[in-house]
Amino acid sequence: MNGMLNIMKPLKNEPWLTKGAIKFLDDNLNFEDSLLEIGSGGSTLYFSQKVKKIVSIEFNEIWYKRIFDALIDNKIKNVTLILLKTNSKNISKVYNTYLKGLNEKFNWIISDGVDGTRGAPIILANKLLYDNGWIILDNYNRSKYKKCLSYLKEWKEIIFNAESGRKYSGSGTAFYKKPKSPNLFNDYREG
Ligand SMILES: C[S@@+](CC[C@H](N)C(=O)[O-])C[C@H]1O[C@@H](n2cnc3c(N)ncnc32)[C@H](O)[C@@H]1O
Repeated sequence: MNGMLNIMKPLKNEPWLTKGAIKFLDDNLNFEDSLLEIGSGGSTLYFSQKVKKIVSIEFNEIWYKRIFDALIDNKIKNVTLILLKTNSKNISKVYNTYLKGLNEKFNWIISDGVDGTRGAPIILANKLLYDNGWIILDNYNRSKYKKCLSYLKEWKEIIFNAESGRKYSGSGTAFYKKPKSPNLFNDYREG
């Protein structure tokens, strides 16, 4: 979620998502799963205990070091933490270029980079997810994400809205499940 980010805030071993979303993750993450995270945080520590393998991408060098140290301190070995160093202000484009070149599929993706950069993983989710995999978008109901979400209109959607009384807009977490592709070559015979 967004709101005021404070780099000195203690790092909790928890994703910064709605409560319902965390419950859904608790119930559905599998120890054999792989997960791609765009936007590291307390979530990285949480996921490290829930799945087999994580690739977590961060562009903010100070924040990256914070997470890197936390992984060392907690002896966490199943996270590949990647710093995307850039002078560009267009972080979305930086993510997009990196993800396009990523030759790997995952069971889960969490698109949780700084606000305004969460579209690239959505648009590339079809390439990066296994069939029946899930992509998570926090603050899904902000108007800036409407266009990219149209890419997922055939995908199963589950929404967990924030508890009432939250001060900022767009507070809700959405999950989208990649449909299983039809096996078009079932009846194909060579020759
Ligand atoms: C929404 S946050 C990512 C949250 C993370 N996925 C989680 O659930 O813990 C998006 C970005 O904000 C920055 N960030 C996260 N927490 C921060 C903090 N406490 N102070 C400053 N920047 C922060 C990092 O660059 C991070 O990738």
